[in-house]
Amino acid sequence: MLNQRVIEFGGSTRSPDRLLEADCVEAQAGLVDESLDLIYMDPPFGTGIVRKSGDANYDDRLSDPDLFLEWLAPCLTGCHRLLKPSGSLFVHLDYRTVHYVKVQLDRLFGRQHFVNEIIWCYSVGGKSRRSFGKKHDTILWYAKSSDYLFFPQEVAVPRKGSSHMRVVMDEDGKPVQEKTDRKTGKVYRYPISAGKVPEDWWTDIETLNHSDRERVGWPTQKPSRLLERIIKATTEPGQRVADWFSGSGTTAVTAQRLGRSFTVTDRSPEAISCAVERLQAQGSMLAGQGQAPPNLVIEGPLLSRQEGASGTRQEC
Ligand SMILES: C[S@@+](CC[C@H](N)C(=O)[O-])C[C@H]1O[C@@H](n2cnc3c(N)ncnc32)[C@H](O)[C@@H]1O
Repeated sequence: MLNQRVIEFGGSTRSPDRLLEADCVEAQAGLVDESLDLIYMDPPFGTGIVRKSGDANYDDRLSDPDLFLEWLAPCLTGCHRLLKPSGSLFVHLDYRTVHYVKVQLDRLFGRQHFVNEIIWCYSVGGKSRRSFGKKHDTILWYAKSSDYLFFPQEVAVPRKGSSHMRVVMDEDGKPVQEKTDRKTGKVYRYPISAGKVPEDWWTDIETLNHSDRERVGWPTQKPSRLLERIIKATTEPGQRVADWFSGSGTTAVTAQRLGRSFTVTDRSPEAISCAVERLQAQGSMLAGQGQAPPNLVIEGPLLSRQEGASGTRQEC
């Protein structure tokens, strides 16, 4: 039986944010077709181990890529059904399964709706004497249709001084990067202050280290800045973001901070508990600043274990 709890932040008239303790496919079954603007998902990577961090853990033992794909495929199908025509799907994986999932997504969404293969680079992790260091994850971006939303200026990054272009002052005395096309002689100018649209390889967002203040102890917690770039690039305030593998709630917490609505799920009650704690703390802070987020509805069979709202601190 499903229990429900509501955390009221008092203020916003937007429809509530939702946090469900459920299997990904079961959670999708209750949702209306074409109702989501963005789906980000960070499923287990098929590492063959139980991922642990302190007391928190989740099962990541499905290491055969064919079986992994068989398991994930119904969830990917559900994503296609639930996205609005202007919506986007981001699937976060690594070298173990990404090629299998890419082929499945090409079939499901159509190859013409593949937008980017984002390479998220980081420096932490082990080294090997038998191969180059494996220091990146891959995030596949698919659009539901050719009319997908993209707001590149919302995620502009600074232009690097070491670029191949020369820096000169424009007529107003402002620095611009400049290059001349050798064939045509045409001069291209890019104001430094406008920044630039990031490439499809991201080296400027590091994984969370042990002393990071953002870290809550959930294994493989992703940095909020990573979700911020994805959410800002593809949604407008008030639109709805989903994540079926919420873990510590990074997608939900980032969406709440950026004024987007969210529906997120995880099958682990400990993960839900962890996300509730983060959302409640941030929601109360935003309400105190006069920017109350929508109420938060939490649903799940084991809800009585999630006592964040009554003031008991849960370790996650
Ligand atoms: C890689 S972690 C997500 C981490 C998250 N992005 C964060 O920043 O904390 C994967 C999550 O998927 C959840 N999970 C695994 N199988 C699931 C399923 N069938 N349905 C829903 N959640 C599942 C696990 O409990 C785990 O929390």
